Amino acid sequence: MRTAEKRLMRALAGETLAVPPVWMMRQAGRYLPEYRATRAKAGSFLDLCYDPDLATQVTLQPIRRYGFDAAILFADILLVPQALGADLRFVEGEGPRLSTVTGAEDLARLGPADAIHETLAPVYETVRRLRAELPAETALIGFAGAPWTVATYMVAGRGTPDQAPARRLIYSDRAVFDALIERITEATIAYLTRQIEAGAEVVKLFDSWAGALPGAEFEAYCIGPARRIVAALRAVAPEVPVIGFPRGAGGGYQSFAEATGVRAIALDTSVDPAWARRAMPGVCLQGNLDPLLLVTGGAALDAATRACVAAFGGGPHVFNLGHGITPDADPANVERMLRAIRG
Ligand code: CP3
Repeated sequence: MRTAEKRLMRALAGETLAVPPVWMMRQAGRYLPEYRATRAKAGSFLDLCYDPDLATQVTLQPIRRYGFDAAILFADILLVPQALGADLRFVEGEGPRLSTVTGAEDLARLGPADAIHETLAPVYETVRRLRAELPAETALIGFAGAPWTVATYMVAGRGTPDQAPARRLIYSDRAVFDALIERITEATIAYLTRQIEAGAEVVKLFDSWAGALPGAEFEAYCIGPARRIVAALRAVAPEVPVIGFPRGAGGGYQSFAEATGVRAIALDTSVDPAWARRAMPGVCLQGNLDPLLLVTGGAALDAATRACVAAFGGGPHVFNLGHGITPDADPANVERMLRAIRG
């Protein structure tokens, strides 16, 4: 099947489908027993990300089980900082730990944006294998973290509840912060360009912490880099749509959609579908079921899934969750959700 004929691509191009295409953030993950088995075989999460054979297998697992309309490359947003020279490890049960960037000396230790490809070559190989192995009708999504969200981890050296270390650096040493955003933006363009060359048909930019930025900084560090990345990718691959995900942006979603040129917007659970449709008439909307419903299941899951399909039904929609599926979700509830969508 040609890329443009795939259901996901049709929705992203602006078509309203009777049954929306569906995939889930974190669809290859710990809620699946087959993921946990492959992950154990790989040893560590990062070993899994950098092993094209195993990363291809885990990307395909939820496609085989559920027949989603799209597969998302198995990797992580923190591979880019690692490829720039940051030390990265994942601590079991706690999350990522990185060497920190808080001053000019730390920046000077990072490599240039175009030096990332040696480290990231296995990821491009995974993309190539996926394009060869995916079912003909399944679209392949590549991704990267957006510069602001990646910067929050690089500055703090870990996940934080309020991204205060990165915001503090903005206010105390804007030159250093701007240089860091610049480096990540260039690396992200280079990374996504290679993913597209390897076969990614769509790319998604995850700005998971966009909601922590006040107005002027949201403009400068969420909208600005996204606009540059979209323009740069359009210059090399005009047919490849970009999905933006400025999670938690509230009213900022509207200016993000207008200013960046993304083809689709992923909505978090807090966004009202009717408002989104009015505020962003020109884009495809993706979202936004509460992932916790896949833990609790039952009639509440059926009702919320049908309500979500109905609420977005008046325009182009890609069914998804408002954030990633959680490790305690029940795989049977994903089937239940799909029955409520597809009938
Ligand atoms: O969606 C997918 O299935 C594709 C793969 C993917 C992963 N991470 C795999 C993963 C994607 C798109 C991401 C994005 C990502 N990674 C984001 C942005 C999206 C979001 O969720 O807001 C962020 C902030 C990260 C950074 C990250 N990766 C953290 C903070 C953690 C640890 C927290 C946790 O859940 O344990 C990860 C680990 C991670 N990334 C896992 C997976 C499947 C779990 C790792 C494991 O197997 O132990």
